[in-house]
Amino acid sequence: MKLDLSPLTIDQFLSEYWQKKPLLIKNAFTDFVDPLSANELAGLASESNIESRIISKNKKSWQAESGPFSDYDQYGNDNWSLVVQSVNHWVKKSQTFVRFFDFIPQWRFDDLMVSFATSGGGVGPHVDNYDAFICQGSGKRHWKVGDKKPLKEVIAHEKLRHVAPFTPIIDEVVNAGDVLYIPPGYPHEGVSINISMSFSVGYKTTNATELLSGFADYLIDFDKKPALLSDSNRNKVAYGQIDQSDFERLHQFLQNTLANKEKLTDFIGIYYSQSLNELDLNQEEYHYDEWLATFETRPLNKLYAVKSLYLDKNIDQGFFYFDGERQQLSSHVEIIKKICNQAVISIQDIQKDQAVLKWLWQSTQRGYWYF
Ligand code: SIN
Ligand code: CO
Repeated sequence: MKLDLSPLTIDQFLSEYWQKKPLLIKNAFTDFVDPLSANELAGLASESNIESRIISKNKKSWQAESGPFSDYDQYGNDNWSLVVQSVNHWVKKSQTFVRFFDFIPQWRFDDLMVSFATSGGGVGPHVDNYDAFICQGSGKRHWKVGDKKPLKEVIAHEKLRHVAPFTPIIDEVVNAGDVLYIPPGYPHEGVSINISMSFSVGYKTTNATELLSGFADYLIDFDKKPALLSDSNRNKVAYGQIDQSDFERLHQFLQNTLANKEKLTDFIGIYYSQSLNELDLNQEEYHYDEWLATFETRPLNKLYAVKSLYLDKNIDQGFFYFDGERQQLSSHVEIIKKICNQAVISIQDIQKDQAVLKWLWQSTQRGYWYF
């Protein structure tokens, strides 16, 4: 299986479509194979720690229920779909699938959402704050995408945020291997034509309030000596007044906090390498000798879905970020890049370096790597 955006190149896709306008790429994948089956999806939906929903429709009324689910008999043969979030946290093959889209960097990536739908099933017309590559697997779906214009919200059900009907600018039936890219803000609706599976690689847009709140949490944890406001150059103002110069003083004070690029770099690494959902940590433990002997003969796989990032600003000092924690392997810039970029690491990749070996072993003990 291979992803090919042709006739577009990745650079053309990024400059003309990414975050700008929707695009349907027919046959983007050759020989598409579902990264997981409907049965495997039902297995995930039966777990209480995995977010799943069933959306169904009868005679124009919508229903939405949250999982876990164990029995589907009541839903009948049509007009419903099962949607499961963060599938890449639990199924290795699905994380491999996500890597087809690694021309968008990992820090932007959110999760793989998988939907199973019966004939007539779908989640209804809606708008997302997400970019998504919706990859059609087995079966067929009819997709409509409208233009980015304000639409009235429709409360079809308390758990569904639908929008009013829209005029489509894309109106097509998709088959296995077709990929529909939808940027935030474009209304869309997919209705299944027969039993079908779709795989949505999603990118949540960063929300400024959440980012600032994250930075504040970071400062609480790591900045033990916060700067204090100074107003030694004070003019007399009215008792009840915050005058413009005091306002500017406060504004500058906050700007200075954000202007500290060293702290901001560290925060961004920690923040974006955090997993929003539970990871399927490997439970196996190894003695170092046994682990090393195995590593001599077999590469290590990085736990699917764990986020590993480096920033240009501090990689030279050996810093990188792994599942929400700062790590340091000084003078190993090329190895750090491999640890963060590659899904698999061999002993040759790390040049048998002792410090890196120790770090990898400890990280394996914590469940982040497996043979
Ligand atoms: C679906 O696959 O049914 C829903 C995907 C979406 O609209 O975001
Ligand atoms: Co959507």
